[in-house]
Amino acid sequence: MLQLARRIGRAKPSAIMLIADKAKRLKAEGRDIISFSIGVPNFLPGEHVYAAARDALAHDSGQYGSNRGSDALLDAFIAHMAEVGLTGYTRANCATGVGAKHVIYNIAEALLDEGDTIVFPTPYWTSYLDIAEIVNAKIDLLPCPADQDYKLTPAQLDVALAKKPRVFLFNNPSNPTGMVYSRDEISALADVLVRYPDTWVITDDIYNRMVFDGLGYHNFVHARPELRDRVIFIDSLSKTYGMPGWRVGFMAGPEQVAQAVVTMNSNHITNLPEVVSAAAVAALSGPQDVTREKCAEFQRKRDQVMAVMDAIPGVVCPRPQGAFYVFPDISVAFGKTHQPSGLAIKDDVTFCSALLETKGVACVPGSAFGAPTALRISYTCPTPQLAPGLQRFQEFFAELA
Ligand SMILES: Cc1ncc(COP(=O)(O)O)c(C=O)c1O
Repeated sequence: MLQLARRIGRAKPSAIMLIADKAKRLKAEGRDIISFSIGVPNFLPGEHVYAAARDALAHDSGQYGSNRGSDALLDAFIAHMAEVGLTGYTRANCATGVGAKHVIYNIAEALLDEGDTIVFPTPYWTSYLDIAEIVNAKIDLLPCPADQDYKLTPAQLDVALAKKPRVFLFNNPSNPTGMVYSRDEISALADVLVRYPDTWVITDDIYNRMVFDGLGYHNFVHARPELRDRVIFIDSLSKTYGMPGWRVGFMAGPEQVAQAVVTMNSNHITNLPEVVSAAAVAALSGPQDVTREKCAEFQRKRDQVMAVMDAIPGVVCPRPQGAFYVFPDISVAFGKTHQPSGLAIKDDVTFCSALLETKGVACVPGSAFGAPTALRISYTCPTPQLAPGLQRFQEFFAELA
């Protein structure tokens, strides 16, 4: 029988999508489902973005475009980075892709030979593991549990980098925890990074505009500019502008890495579609009020979710300061039974499944992110659904014994 390549055996469908699909199925059966599962921003971009797309359609060149990204798009991205203090990048430092996921995949292909080590903290965004497995890298996970606020410490980084991994992959603000590193925390990690020049650093910071409490966004390059020649910054339109389906992602870093991404692009996507690029330029350069309003709304929703998490006995939940996720440790429920239904809670997966079956609330088990004592709540659902969803979550806990 004809065989597929071994790499396909290592690729897995997204665990998050499996929960979202189950929730969709129950909804189609007429159940009242509140979804806290999928990490979509749940808002649409401003009208100027659609106007730019319509205008691009009206003036379609009908041609292939640049493998790197159009000059207008690269320039808009460079200006956008400058707003968060990442200055001095040229077009040659940048490349675009079909979403940040695609850009990260390309960079993994560009930096990791089979068997090279990539190191990243857990909890991690699910695709990091899957991408690393597809390229057959060795994966070194750095556990960052709730009692250290899900954050990597300089000491942990030091030990990990002493083993000379090829790549250190970092994510700030974090999906799934919503945690944001402070200026001092970034600075302390950057001090470790400068001592290990053999490791590339990918910093996936696609939620950099979704930071609360006036904390601000900080990057290793802000802290130690000499890291610029091996730090690769990742950004995306998906969350910031409510444009996940438009599929626009970016990188900025050393020229040779950007060029490698361009080469990869030239061999599969060729270019981002012209209409999408025009919409992306409008999003980056146009009015930013939708993003700002949504960030303020997410901060309010974070407060609402945290009020409930803090009120449930035994749940440990570091207070997130960005993105739109909360990641409570729910291991206090393990070994209990949901009394009305008789469903046993053995772990995060049985917890989420029982919660969905009995209360119609969909959350993602923490094991999807390498943290099986927790679950992820994505709180971007329509505002009127948030309070009832949280109330059902709290009731579910009260019904465990
Ligand atoms: C941390 C992180 N990085 C990258 C991505 C992928 O973003 P994009 O939609 O641009 O592919 C996501 C999406 O959920 C994410 O949470």
